[in-house]
Amino acid sequence: MRLKMASIFGPVLIICLILILAGMKPAQSQSADRPKPAADAHGHGPGYVVTPAVGPGWLKLIGIFDISMTPMGQMGGDGPPPASTRVEPEFPVEGGPPPGGMGMGGMMGGNYSGDQFSDSELRQMGDEKFALAGSDFYRLDCRACHGPEGHGAPPEINSVIGPIQATAAGLVEARMKKMGRPIGEKMAQELASQALQSVLERLQKGGKKMPSFSHLQGKEVDTLIQYLKMLVGAPASQAKSTLVSENTGRVGEHLVKGTCQICHDATGPGMRSGGMMQGIIPSLASFPFEQSMQSIVWQVGYGSRHMMMMGGQRMPAYPYITVQEAAAAYIYLVRYPPM
Ligand code: HEC
Ligand code: HEC
Repeated sequence: MRLKMASIFGPVLIICLILILAGMKPAQSQSADRPKPAADAHGHGPGYVVTPAVGPGWLKLIGIFDISMTPMGQMGGDGPPPASTRVEPEFPVEGGPPPGGMGMGGMMGGNYSGDQFSDSELRQMGDEKFALAGSDFYRLDCRACHGPEGHGAPPEINSVIGPIQATAAGLVEARMKKMGRPIGEKMAQELASQALQSVLERLQKGGKKMPSFSHLQGKEVDTLIQYLKMLVGAPASQAKSTLVSENTGRVGEHLVKGTCQICHDATGPGMRSGGMMQGIIPSLASFPFEQSMQSIVWQVGYGSRHMMMMGGQRMPAYPYITVQEAAAAYIYLVRYPPM
């Protein structure tokens, strides 16, 4: 009897294995691929499909379990949000330091204000419009790793300066000439466009330790590249930068996927459900249930509110993120629940 079972299940098992293997990608192909969300179920931003945050935090996905082991997510610096003429909606949140000083928030449950907005209020805030420049996309999506000036933290995080300079034909031509190997304008353009392709591909697919930014689309990418060229001093990049109009959900998506999800998993326990005691990082999905919008704004602006002596990992401050953008992240998490 036993033999008979084995002879039936053997082939079935092998077929199952083949099916499973066929569905798997070769282990070496890419670094950790971020899981892709299903298509948007909640509606669209103007021209952009907003999708929820999915899967583990990036550091965990690439095998880093303690944020003090890496500069990733912590290179943003302590500069203030940029002065700009762009439009920012007015949400009912304050930017000043949390009352009562730092330290007690996490211990008390992290919820500084009782302001929990109703669904319809949040929906209304979600329809507000932001106007974003290339520098804003950089701030929301890149700065936490590559720093305010793009230098990164070599050797782990490469500088963007060289690779972006290589996308500017004028700079390529000048550099080759300086090196005593002059090339024609056409050749320089050819090389520059190859370099640009490789940057665009990196944004789509990510790198070894860099997440994919496939949520960046169309005009967002154009204005981001334009800004990066200006940042690295490419000539003919001083053209007046265009502003991209986006709704709150989309802005929140940029901040969450480009910054918060470096450390925070999409789903899992929050602070109140024992997270703090275990020293873990609360999930994005827990925020709408455990935090007020005001509480998130303060956490982003001022960083960890836990007392040092509690030990564990501490969240850095992101003072260069505006109050409105942090509020947008909250609204995004409410309207597009992480999966
Ligand atoms: C979570 C951290 C992280 C974020 C966020 C991030 N990067 Fe990176 N980036 C890296 C790392 C790490 C490298 C080094 C190469 C690698 O491991 O892929 C890198 C490398 C690069 C390089 C190539 C450097 C080279 O030598 O070729 C470019 C260009 C770049 N990033 C652009 C961007 C842009 C633009 C954004 C924002 C849309 C961004 N990065 C966001 C981590 C990040
Ligand atoms: C470099 C890693 C890192 C990044 C990036 C990060 N966080 Fe955190 N965050 C943590 C850690 C660690 C904790 C838990 C301990 C603490 O509060 O310091 C935490 C805790 C929190 C809490 C709970 C605070 C409490 O007391 O209950 C909130 C809310 C939060 N983060 C929001 C955000 C938002 C929003 C972003 C994106 C703008 C973000 N975090 C980006 C590491 C990070």
